[in-house]
Amino acid sequence: MKLLALGDVVGQKTIDVIEKKLPDYRREHGISFVVCNGENAAEIRGMRAVDAERLLAAGVDIITLGNHAFGQKDLYPVLEREKRIIRPVNFPPQTPGMGYTVVAAESGERVLCINVCGRAFMDAYASPFETVEGVLKREAGKYDLSVLDVHAEATSEKLALGRWFDGRIDVIFGTHTHVTTADEQILPRGTGYQTDLGMCGPVGGILGTDAAAVIEKFRSLMPTRFTVAGGEVELHGTVFEIPDGKVRRITRVVF
Ligand SMILES: [Fe+2]
Repeated sequence: MKLLALGDVVGQKTIDVIEKKLPDYRREHGISFVVCNGENAAEIRGMRAVDAERLLAAGVDIITLGNHAFGQKDLYPVLEREKRIIRPVNFPPQTPGMGYTVVAAESGERVLCINVCGRAFMDAYASPFETVEGVLKREAGKYDLSVLDVHAEATSEKLALGRWFDGRIDVIFGTHTHVTTADEQILPRGTGYQTDLGMCGPVGGILGTDAAAVIEKFRSLMPTRFTVAGGEVELHGTVFEIPDGKVRRITRVVF
């Protein structure tokens, strides 16, 4: 099977591009499972129910989220009933939704997907190490392939999680920074790993946000209204080829 993981989706016009390009890309490249991070889909902060519907209809199998998971209130009831959207598993237990799910890929495999937040330079989430450990124990024997989206700021924390779960989770990638890292690799015990997938969004600004507003924020330290950047939308992601239950090849893609 081939799994495509797409970086953080920024804004409505990126969803338009995903609707236009993803179905053909999936077919042409024989992709049987697509994961994407949707936490900036609603013009930067969070994802609305309608954004989720559009991404799922465009051929995304699983949407992961992150620190902005609860940025749009109309998503809360959807998180309670929609198995194909997950928020970080290490949020407090009373928050809406699920942190992991098992769904079937087009090629038949049962795929366990887990979303977790890092803690370095982020909120005081529960330990990503212990929380994911608990999920693996609970779900043991119920899946054929496992995928972990580590939504985190620090590359070192993502790498530490990659190494800790090496050989126990098949695919581990990071999201949140919106900058693609060039370190895709198969770790010593077989996990396909990349520190950050990058972004699906307009490349004309700063991380998908209008550059002038970000510069103003850094210069003045005053509250600043962020809007989605202009410029071409690019979809940044990574294809993990898993022909025999093991990741054999990893390729960064832009389309
Ligand atoms: Fe984030």
